Order: sequence, then structure tokens, then C-alpha cells
Amino acid sequence: MKISSEEALMLIESLRGVGEIDSWIDHCVCVGNCASKIAQSLGLDEDYAKALGFVHDIGRALNNKSHTKAGYEYLKKLGYDEDLCNVCLTHSYLNNDVNCSAGGLSKQDKERKDFIKNHEYTEYEKIINICDLMCKTQVMTIEKRLIDLILRRGVHANTQYHIVETFKLKKYFDDKLGFNLYDLFPSIKDNL
Ligand SMILES: [Fe+2]
Repeated sequence: MKISSEEALMLIESLRGVGEIDSWIDHCVCVGNCASKIAQSLGLDEDYAKALGFVHDIGRALNNKSHTKAGYEYLKKLGYDEDLCNVCLTHSYLNNDVNCSAGGLSKQDKERKDFIKNHEYTEYEKIINICDLMCKTQVMTIEKRLIDLILRRGVHANTQYHIVETFKLKKYFDDKLGFNLYDLFPSIKDNL
């Protein structure tokens, strides 16, 4: 089953008050709106990109510690297509590597490691990856977002690796767009 961005927004709003915290909902709205803008600029399906952004952290309503798997299983149970469910798993990891993530080396099981290693990231999943690294509840530079993550989650053995891959992903989109990704988001200057 497919989902529109409108339905995705209703779905996450219906979970307000369910988890320990609700800030993930405003974060997902930011990621969805940011993703839609990038998709539009690249001639991709902006509503689909927006829907993916809206649901990517949906697992946080159910299990904040293991939100990627919880989100995947929740959407799967509701009958949504695999590509929508997958964004819950892929959004935290860069470079097809479960260890390329903020907040320390992965404790994921072999099945998850293998899935991320062998999964061919779609353009949409890459868009969600970069938007997750440009959004808290407002859009910001990756530099500011990475510092925010370090301040909250600390510096770990894989932090440098994650930063390097984040910069590579930003360059990937700069090159695809033919201009600086930040140019799509003038409000970024209000949030330096
Ligand atoms: Fe996120």
C-alpha cells in the first residue's frame, strides 16, 4: 500500500502523546518538507519524498531506543510498501554501513548489518539521509547539526568517519543540483 504525504502527516500526528517524547514529530515534518524541496529541484516525486521524511522516525513513538526496527515493523504491519518501511531502517546509516551513524558504534544484529550493507540506496533514501542531517525541528547546516549531535551523544570511535561521510553526501547533492544545496533553504541563514 502506498501513502500520500497528507496521509503520512495524519499518521504521525495520530501518534502524538503515544511515545515518551513528541519532538520527533516536528523533526519529521522538517525532514519531509526539506526532502520535498530537494526532490522537486531534482525533478523527482516531491510528495513521495515528503511522505518518506514524515514517517522516517515513526518508530520513536513506539520504541525510542530501537526506533529504526520499531518503525519498520509498525509500517509493515499497517500494510505499507517495502520501500516506505525501509526508510525507517536506512535513514540513520551512511555509506551502506551500520557503523556510519551518529552516536557510537552499532549494536545492530547481523541481519541488520547485512541488510544495510547490501541495500541499494534509492535517491529518495539518500535525500532522507541528508535531510535528517540538516533538520532538528528547523532546517540548519550539516555543520550545526553534527555539532548538535556530538553535544548530545558524545564523540565516539566512529564520529570522524560519520562526519566525513556526511560531508561527502552533501557534496553529492551539491554536484547533482549544480549549486550549493543550502541555496534551496534561505531560512538556513536565520539558524546559524
Ligand atoms: Fe530523524
